[in-house]
Amino acid sequence: MSVVVVVGAQWGDEGKGKVVDLYARYADVVARYGGGANAGHTLVVGGDKVVFHLIPSGALHVKTRCVIGQGTVVDPRVLVDELEELRTRGLLDEPRVLVSERAHIVLPHHVAIDGLREKGDGAIGTTKRGIGPAYEDKVGRRGLRVGDLLRPELFAEKLSANLARWEPFFGALGAEPTDRAKVAEEYLALGERLRPYVADTSRYLSGCIARGEKVLLEGAQGTMLDIDHGTYPYVTSSTVIAGGASAGAGISPGVIDEVVGISKAYTTRVGGGPFPTELHGDEGERLRAAGAEFGATTGRPRRCGWLDVPALRFAVRINGMTQLALTKLDVLGGLGDLRICVAYELDGERLDEPPYDGLDRVTPVYETLSGWDEDITGCESVDALPPRARAYVERIEELAGCRLGLVSVGADRDATLRLSDPFA
Ligand code: GDP
Ligand code: IMO
Ligand code: MG
Repeated sequence: MSVVVVVGAQWGDEGKGKVVDLYARYADVVARYGGGANAGHTLVVGGDKVVFHLIPSGALHVKTRCVIGQGTVVDPRVLVDELEELRTRGLLDEPRVLVSERAHIVLPHHVAIDGLREKGDGAIGTTKRGIGPAYEDKVGRRGLRVGDLLRPELFAEKLSANLARWEPFFGALGAEPTDRAKVAEEYLALGERLRPYVADTSRYLSGCIARGEKVLLEGAQGTMLDIDHGTYPYVTSSTVIAGGASAGAGISPGVIDEVVGISKAYTTRVGGGPFPTELHGDEGERLRAAGAEFGATTGRPRRCGWLDVPALRFAVRINGMTQLALTKLDVLGGLGDLRICVAYELDGERLDEPPYDGLDRVTPVYETLSGWDEDITGCESVDALPPRARAYVERIEELAGCRLGLVSVGADRDATLRLSDPFA
């Protein structure tokens, strides 16, 4: 096995950062293929916490090379800050991070427009990182790319053309006019900082794969936030699912050997949109407190609820998941009986996957399992789990119809019951 995709199987924040960091010790290269700095991937190593927004979560392994593929949208300010943080920690030598010259960039007016829209009627609870407007420019064929940061004349020309398309809407949105010269000066300077890292990453990754190197493709967000397959319009603006790894990293779909889907042992969602198993009031609050469910990018409290198997089953199918990595099992200890949503009912019909329309009207069909009170963070294998915790995990594996590859029982790298190496 040489190419593995790690993908979020829910609404994001499943623990992709932790799992990617764990698998990265076996990988030669880790590449991001979609999304931007809306992602917040948390790694905890020996009690120290790091959150990556753009740099792949393999970066703490000094031998692992990191690639930001052209399916992402790159905010140069965030990338330069993250590179600086790695350097400060003594973790970065120059050629270890590469960013695609073809990745589109997020500009200040993208961030401003995202924030202003979120104040209006159409708010969906975005991360306000400018992601939607940047992808709009990409598909609208008026975007600026990382490669343009290295070409001053072209950059100024493209920036003017791009702003000319947005400016008619600035008044209605309440946006300030952009000082083009100031933006050009700042971004061309950022471009110079990034110059050593800019590359044809598709060609680079193809070469790595041809040499038999182990490549890990790190998804951002989660399946239910996918632009095509998620809970539209309450979604992000990119292809999240494993199929996007090929286009977003610039590699053949035929080389992908394994797709690991990450799911929490329960469900969270941050931002608006339907969430059938959401717990309100005290129950939701308990889960949020137990799981420390606050956004890694925005700090917003995450909405919390029981595990949604129809959504997970959908993720298994649409991503072609070959393994399931189940995280945050420890959070459920001491919460009493646990519920799993095994199906939905909508207008008298039983559904085993989210419907096109009406997810906000479904009634979850629950199965109740006994909870456990033991602290499982110190467990070292699935066999060592208390019987009720083990039964819970095994039931999820059965309902999802996907082999369990890993169980995570704490935020730290070491709090992991690893059942199989995805590259083995
Ligand atoms: P990502 O976006 O998928 O990488 O996930 P986030 O980093 O946004 O959110 C997951 C949070 O859960 C982070 O704070 C992790 O440190 C934490 N975490 C990951 N796995 C576990 C686990 O098994 N148990 C506990 N208690 N926390 C975990
Ligand atoms: P990671 O990679 C959770 C959500 C936002 C909002 C919607 C659109 O850490 O799992 P956007 O800013 O992308 O236009 O917002 O998508 N969202 C995420 N939720 N985890 C993420 O990333 C997310 N990235 C975007 O909250 O509902
Ligand atoms: Mg996150």
